[in-house]
Amino acid sequence: MSLLHSPIPVTPRGQGLIARWADQIDVDADTPRITIGEGGTPLVAAARLSAALGVDLHLKLELTNPTGSFKDRGMCVAVARAVQAGAHTLICASTGNTSASAAAFAAAAGLKCVVIIPSGKIAAGKLQQAQVAGAQVIQIDGNFDDGLDAVRELSTRPGIALVNSVNPYRIEGQKTAAFEVIEDLGGEAPDWLCLPVGNAGNITAYWRGFQEWHAAGKVATLPRLLGVQAAGAAPLVDGAPVAEPETIATAIRIGRPARGEEALAAVAESNGRLLKRTDEQLLSAYARLAHEAGIFAEPASAISLAGLIVALEDGTIERGSRVVCVLTGHGLKDPDSAARIVEPTLTCGPSAAEIAAVLDLA
Ligand code: F0G
Repeated sequence: MSLLHSPIPVTPRGQGLIARWADQIDVDADTPRITIGEGGTPLVAAARLSAALGVDLHLKLELTNPTGSFKDRGMCVAVARAVQAGAHTLICASTGNTSASAAAFAAAAGLKCVVIIPSGKIAAGKLQQAQVAGAQVIQIDGNFDDGLDAVRELSTRPGIALVNSVNPYRIEGQKTAAFEVIEDLGGEAPDWLCLPVGNAGNITAYWRGFQEWHAAGKVATLPRLLGVQAAGAAPLVDGAPVAEPETIATAIRIGRPARGEEALAAVAESNGRLLKRTDEQLLSAYARLAHEAGIFAEPASAISLAGLIVALEDGTIERGSRVVCVLTGHGLKDPDSAARIVEPTLTCGPSAAEIAAVLDLA
């Protein structure tokens, strides 16, 4: 029997995000069902961290998306809509993950892809992902915000589709993560959802997803949102744009978030909170995720845990709450950050005796 006629049902994940959620997102019957296997990511109960922190903590592993970040959800829909509209080229500015995702979907859809990145300020793996997929990568002597200004202008030319999260279809795709959280919690929302905030598309998307299902009667409560920014790139917390954002979490090194107003509204409507954490604090959370949950997320993702920790300490989040931390990107993308938190490896001769001696084994 040919595979095409296999009696085995296709899993929701195998169908791809657009096919799975076609009745919930802004697509139509003619939108191509482009997929590289995005969405359907696990929600994992973090037993040791829950015990240590006194909460019921679940980790939304967006880092298991095909290019290793949550960007694949929204990119899938944005690229499908770009194909439908007859675009020949995708363009984006990026701190790394958007470019990796755009490049991958461009390859899958047979489009050209141009990515603009801040020179020297993106993780090595992300740059390689975009290059390997065949994107044209341009490093600019400027930051993400400068790059976004430029691509907004460039994308007014015919046939060029802008796929940053200012593109409404990005938000449509990304809101499906909220649906999955509700499904995986048995039809309930968490008390709190903690996530990093950079250009502020993702927090906007989660809030839309939760609100839509709440309005449709599919979930009884709404979560409170805890948005976390890096101390050196915290325009929403500080209430003013940051001309020269700086943080080790290069993914969220953004000083003028395009969806900042929406993020502020989402946090206010959810009775949530925005806060900032230092590089030292986010690195400590990054190490804890790896040491105590076995999850290797990238530094920007770990800031959600850093935010949870302080919110528990200052009483913003009550002990015993059910909390979801969104782990947005994979640690493997950024080996240079990993090198900051590990000890040098031990070296010795190959015999059991020599290894035992180095390990201080009797
Ligand atoms: N976490 C990671 C790993 C990211 O790459 C980003 C954004 C965010 C969180 C913040 O999400 O922008 O929706 O608030 N990265 C973008 C990029 C800017 O170009 O890859 P946001």
